[in-house]
Parts: sequence; structure tokens; C-alpha cells
Amino acid sequence: MAAYDYETHTYDVVVVGAGGAGLRATLGMAEQGLRTACISKVFPTRSHTVAAQGGIAASLSNMGPDHWQWHMYDTVKGSDWLGDTDAMEYLAREAPKAVYELEHYGVPFSRTEEGKIYQRPFGGHTTEFGEGPPVQRTCAAADRTGHAILHTLYGQSLKQKAEFYIEYFAIDLIMGEDGTCQGVVCWKLDDGTIHVFNAKMTVLATGGYGRAYFSATSAHTCTGDGNGMVARAGLPLQDMEFVQFHPTGIYGAGCLITEGARGEGGYLTNSEGERFMERYAPTYKDLASRDVVSRCMTMEIREGRGVGPEKDHIHLNLNHLPPETLHERLPGISESARIFAGADVTKEPIPVLPTVHYNMGGIPTNYWGEVLNPTKDDPDALAPGLMAVGEAGCASVHGANRLGSNSLIDLVVFGRAAAIRAAKVVDPAASNPTLNQSSIDAALDRFDKLRHADGGTPTAELRLEMQKTMQADAAVFRTDKTLAEGVKKMQAVAKKEKDLKVTDRSLIWNSDLMETLEIMNLLPNALATVISAEARKESRGAHAHEDYPDRDDKTWRKHTLSWVDDTYKVTLDYRPVHTDPLTKQKDGGIDLKKIAPKARVY
Ligand code: FUM
Repeated sequence: MAAYDYETHTYDVVVVGAGGAGLRATLGMAEQGLRTACISKVFPTRSHTVAAQGGIAASLSNMGPDHWQWHMYDTVKGSDWLGDTDAMEYLAREAPKAVYELEHYGVPFSRTEEGKIYQRPFGGHTTEFGEGPPVQRTCAAADRTGHAILHTLYGQSLKQKAEFYIEYFAIDLIMGEDGTCQGVVCWKLDDGTIHVFNAKMTVLATGGYGRAYFSATSAHTCTGDGNGMVARAGLPLQDMEFVQFHPTGIYGAGCLITEGARGEGGYLTNSEGERFMERYAPTYKDLASRDVVSRCMTMEIREGRGVGPEKDHIHLNLNHLPPETLHERLPGISESARIFAGADVTKEPIPVLPTVHYNMGGIPTNYWGEVLNPTKDDPDALAPGLMAVGEAGCASVHGANRLGSNSLIDLVVFGRAAAIRAAKVVDPAASNPTLNQSSIDAALDRFDKLRHADGGTPTAELRLEMQKTMQADAAVFRTDKTLAEGVKKMQAVAKKEKDLKVTDRSLIWNSDLMETLEIMNLLPNALATVISAEARKESRGAHAHEDYPDRDDKTWRKHTLSWVDDTYKVTLDYRPVHTDPLTKQKDGGIDLKKIAPKARVY
């Protein structure tokens, strides 16, 4: 057994991750008097939420008529009818409250002439249950909305005396013999010490796993650490086949150009200078849902109408917009375009390409953020002591495809919901669990084994192989052939983990070891993604299967569950989609006929 001394910390709640969801949960827990620690592998304001640009969706009606039911309808349709109805209602109903709270906490939103929060159009957000014109629902702080939210939430959390453990890497969950989560084992990156956090409730807010792919808008830190820990704890992941490609990543660099650019009037063109979205989505054009726009761009390129010497990307045009709009509303992307594409947006188009952006799948939860451990008898059974929020969680509000600006609102609505729930289920007066020593020992053994890994494959080499495989075989369009190849290749990649080589054995600022722990988290995410995708014989949302081009609600309107064991065997099962709303129509809820499945056209 590996011998490491460790320090034990005892809290009511431990939140792992300090992005928008982690900080909103931390703040809410601390506000309610729970002793709360927030652990983060990066400084909180460097979490990936800082890169969120365009805004946060809420039906405030500041720019014209809007209604939470229209927002709910758009979310249901955007999810391609895979989202859970109760969770989607909760999101749309709570969104305005959650945004006004952010405003009162101090988020510096852009303003209208009257001083109200400025809202812009975003793809897939409409009026009149999809019958009316696009709505301006996305509340924005220029094109740096995530940055503004993150800084505000961090300040507020400090004010509430939440305690931060910064640059601590979470190695594994501590699981009791009875399956209750008891906390987490961490490695402090700057001095090499080990820390055990004992908690009555552990909240995973560890973000997505975009870095399983070669080209992603996600930060290099987005390595699905929470999902990896959950898989190792024997719990399932959900709907992992649904990976969102954002239409406008900068060609080559992959950096995000916000959908807000099209919201402000930008449009896409092909090599013939044609505004091709008019052909595919005659009503909402460039403001159709993201999966739709990404597929249309890919089709234009495949059919030889891509731009550039290799005809392998598309142009995003903003140069017709007034310079003051670019300056006021889109300053961040104007700078990114200049730095990463050498494009002056006032004069020339930005070269763009669909780029991995978001994981709809993750750790299954209910709409309070409580993690599920589904059984045959109870598909909604709970994994006690554990919550998951933000991109790591799958509530599931985004189903098969997330609408732009529904991510930031998901972070704050469900971060807040987790805190509301924790205040009910966590008793500050109760004693903490007696920690399961064998679970701590297992975590430290795994850590030590990786630290001393002495095979022939450097971590960076294995990571690149995984990223290239995922990029090629679990892409915007999928076929039986590409997916079967992807499964075979990913299984071979995962097996090479046994041959990993870590060169640096030290414990202080050992980025080699940290990246190795990260790839060990990415591997189960990647495998679950490609294996779940291979099994789903239909097309739905971001899962565009060319051999099964139609959605098949009869067979496939269900969530995929995937268990990844320590030999990388993936076992699949399914659980039903929640089709009941929270509120009956007679009590003010939505008319279920309005959200019944139908063809998804924009
Ligand atoms: O395009 C964007 O600004 C991204 C927003 C989102 O993913 O919600």
C-alpha cells in the first residue's frame, strides 16, 4: 500500500470545481450557514466559465415580449425531445429569478437605454412556441458574460466566508461501504501534500470533457475529472453520445467566436459568397439551433463550397455591422479574431469551423442536482451524499442538443438548486461520516501507481491518439462504419494506459503527473461517448447518424446509461425520459400538447 501522510479537513459540504456552477453552489451553501469548502485545480476566476461569451438565457422581456413557457418550448425542441420535462420547466421558470440575483450580486450586465439588462438574440430562441420571430432572451455583459459572472460569484462567496482550496487536484471520491459519498482525496499541487476532505455532501462541478477531442473551444483544463471519478466509483454516466459542435470556432485555433456575433447580425457564407443558411433553415437562418448550423456548414464543405485554399472552412461576416456595435457588444471576439485569425472584423470575414464546445451528457442527476444511481426498479434512485451541477451534471435539460446561452443559466439555476436542496438534506448539527479507509487507500494507491508509471508511452502521445480518434470517428456526422472504427481504436488507446510513462516523480508542480491523472479521467469519458454513440441507431440533436437519418422516438426516446469499469469495459443500459412537467396546466403549467414531439425544423 502506498504510504502518504495526509491532512483531514471536515466540512458540511465540499464543492469540487470553481466555475459558474461550483461558485453558485458554494455561495448558496455558505449563505445558508453550511460550512462549505470549494476545491479547484485552477484559480477560481480562471475556471472555464470565464471563457463564456455571448450570455445567459432568461425570459426577462426587456427587449420585447417573452414568456418562461416559450423558453421552455425552445429548450424542449432544442433538446430534440430528449430533455427531462420537469428539469426543463425548472430551468425556464427559475431563470429570471436567477439572473436578477446575479444582477443584485453585482454582475455588470450591458444595459439598454432605459437601464435594463441588455438581451440579444441567440440560436433556437423564439417567440410564440416557435411560431413567432426570434426573441432577444440572452442577457449579456458585452461578449464577456462568463467572465463577469465568475468574478462576481467568487467575490460573493468570499464575502459569505466559503473556504477555498486553490490548486488542489481531486484524485478520487471517498465512497462508504454502503455507497454513500463521504468526500474526496486531493493532491495540493504547489507543495505536494495530500488532503482528505470529509463532507456530508460532495458536489461535483468539474465541467465538461472537451479535451477528449483534438479541436475544442474548451480550456485545456476541461478533462472530465468529476465524470472520471464517478465512473471509478462504479456509478453510471448518461447520454455521453451527445457532444455539441459550436458552429464558429476559429479555423485552426479552435477559439470560440460567440453565437452572439450572429445574434448581433453576423452571417455565414460559403465560397460562392452565398448566405447558405437561408436554404437550410428558411425561418431562423443563421439563428437556427447549433447542431443544425454545424451540420449545414459541414455539408457545404463536403459539397465543395468551403472557403480557403483547401475549401475546408466557412466565413463569418461581421464587417457590415456598425463599428460601434462591434466595439460595444463584441469587443472580445474582435480581439480574438485579430489575434488568432489575423482578421480585422471591421473589414474582413472570420474563418470558422464547427468545433467541439459542450457535452450534453454527464453525471445523471435530478433537477436538484442529486446524483442518480439508477436501478431496474428505480431509474431515479439516488447516490447518497453526492451532487453534480453544471456541465459535469446531466439533469437533463439539454437532452440531445443544448441551446446557446442555456449553459450559463444551467450553471446558476442548478448551482442554486443544489444549495436549496442541501440546506434541506444536510444537517449542520449532525456528525460527519466515519471515513472508509480502504477507499482512501485505493485512491492513494492509484495515485502512486501513476506517479511511478514507467512504460513506454508518454502521456502526451496517448492523449493525442485519443483526441485524433475522437475527432475523426465521433464527429458532427457519424456512420456505423466510423463509429465501429472509433470503438475499436478507442479500446486500443485505452489499453495503452498500462504502458504510460511518467518522467517526473516529484510531488510539487508536477504537470506530467497532473496531465496523467487528467488523461485517466478523459479515457472513460471518450470510451463512454463512442460506445454510447455506436449503440444509438437513430439521429437526434447532436447525434447525426447518416445510416439512421431520422429520429426514432418509439425506440430511442430514452437516456443512455454507461458504466465504465477499470478494465475499460463499457456496459450500457437505458432509463426513461421524464415526460411529466413539474406543474399541471390547470395550476399554471405548460400545455403538454405544445411540447409534444414533432419534426424539428427552424
Ligand atoms: O456562443 C456563445 O457565446 C456560447 C454560448 C454558449 O455556449 O452558451
